[in-house]
Amino acid sequence: MTSPVELLVVKSVRAVDPAAGLDAEVDLVIERGRITALGPGAGAKAAHSERARVIDGSGKWVLPAFVDLHAHLREPGQEYKEDIRSGLAAAAAGGFAHVCVMPNTKPVNDTRAVTELMLRRAAEVGGPELHPIGAITVGQKGKELTEMAELREAGAVAVSDDGVCVMSSAVMRRALEYAKTFDLPVIQHAEDHELTAGADMHEGAVSARLGLRGWPRAAEDVIVARDLILAEYTGARYHLAHASTLGSVRLLREAKSRGLAVTAEVTPHHLLLTDASVIGYDTFCKVNPPLREEADIAALRAALADGTLDAIATDHAPHTSLEKDCEFSYAKPGMIGLELCFGLLLGLVGKSGLTLARLIDALSTRPARIAGIDAPSLREGALAELTLIDPEARWHPERGSLRSKSDNTPFWGRELSGQVLATLSGGRLVFDRNGADR
Ligand code: DOR
Repeated sequence: MTSPVELLVVKSVRAVDPAAGLDAEVDLVIERGRITALGPGAGAKAAHSERARVIDGSGKWVLPAFVDLHAHLREPGQEYKEDIRSGLAAAAAGGFAHVCVMPNTKPVNDTRAVTELMLRRAAEVGGPELHPIGAITVGQKGKELTEMAELREAGAVAVSDDGVCVMSSAVMRRALEYAKTFDLPVIQHAEDHELTAGADMHEGAVSARLGLRGWPRAAEDVIVARDLILAEYTGARYHLAHASTLGSVRLLREAKSRGLAVTAEVTPHHLLLTDASVIGYDTFCKVNPPLREEADIAALRAALADGTLDAIATDHAPHTSLEKDCEFSYAKPGMIGLELCFGLLLGLVGKSGLTLARLIDALSTRPARIAGIDAPSLREGALAELTLIDPEARWHPERGSLRSKSDNTPFWGRELSGQVLATLSGGRLVFDRNGADR
């Protein structure tokens, strides 16, 4: 593992941290992993030190580093798709200082042993901090609750059966009650499996035209509606994973207006792509939940802008070419997302009312709060957890150029705006585009 940054000065950089009320051109000094000075001209003296690495920040931005609530790093068990080392490298290159990892590994992370193993691996690797999410039910089978107390004690920040939905209302009720005693959020993958049996994509005109079986919006909405009722009844912390429908947005908005402790996330791909992307049977566009329609995108974007959707989460879901280069129905759902997230989203600022401040909040401060992680912050005295961005960069991701082991994304060749230049996590430099990060 690398040591904390000894002395780094970023000169004349635009620093934006809405939680700290900061948006100004400043110098930033980081000493032994902490922000020791921040302000106009604050780096003048330190920059002359022989020990200092000085970066000219003109035209660049410094933001609080990002926090991903939802990634699949596949270790243990499916290291041929991704492992903790490659997944964390991808996260670092995407500007993330913290990554919460889903429990649908092999074996499922439903025990202290698997949680500890993940944390041990992450500590060996270095890089962004990994936060395991434990399963809600043993084996993600939806029947018997896990030992959440133990998972929590071992380091789990939330529980989820992501990949599958907790279908039983009784089990969900008990899960919410049990998790509440440890203040753990319960993250639901909202999908009524009876309504999606055999489904390949969103149910609508495109699925009819392609002859693929459809996954109706209602399959998400009925679960969200039920869960919100249970969340209200139990008073527990409920978090909706990868919201994809206008119905979910409507339900969340109503629940939040009544003060319920519910939160939700949305992925970059659900904000950007519709089911029309599936025309041509591009298996890289097969995801769960599926890509929806323009009306859903409009609702999701508006909800992100007004905070009804609290966080952006990547749902980074690596799969090999063998699992994607096949008939649509056989292809595994999911796409990688950690390295492309920011470049995909910066272009949304100014559209549908989305401000830069809200985008940063959704990528960093709010997800940290949901997972109970100390939020990265640009304040004097804070641990240096930040990302340096070139907002003017225009780039086209090329196959083979990313750090993930898998290449399942439909965004190859797309023009992205804004590129991560460096990432600090826990006071350490975990990514340095122009340096020796690899
Ligand atoms: O597209 C998805 N892929 N959605 C999920 O919920 C699971 C994930 C995976 O593990 O591949």
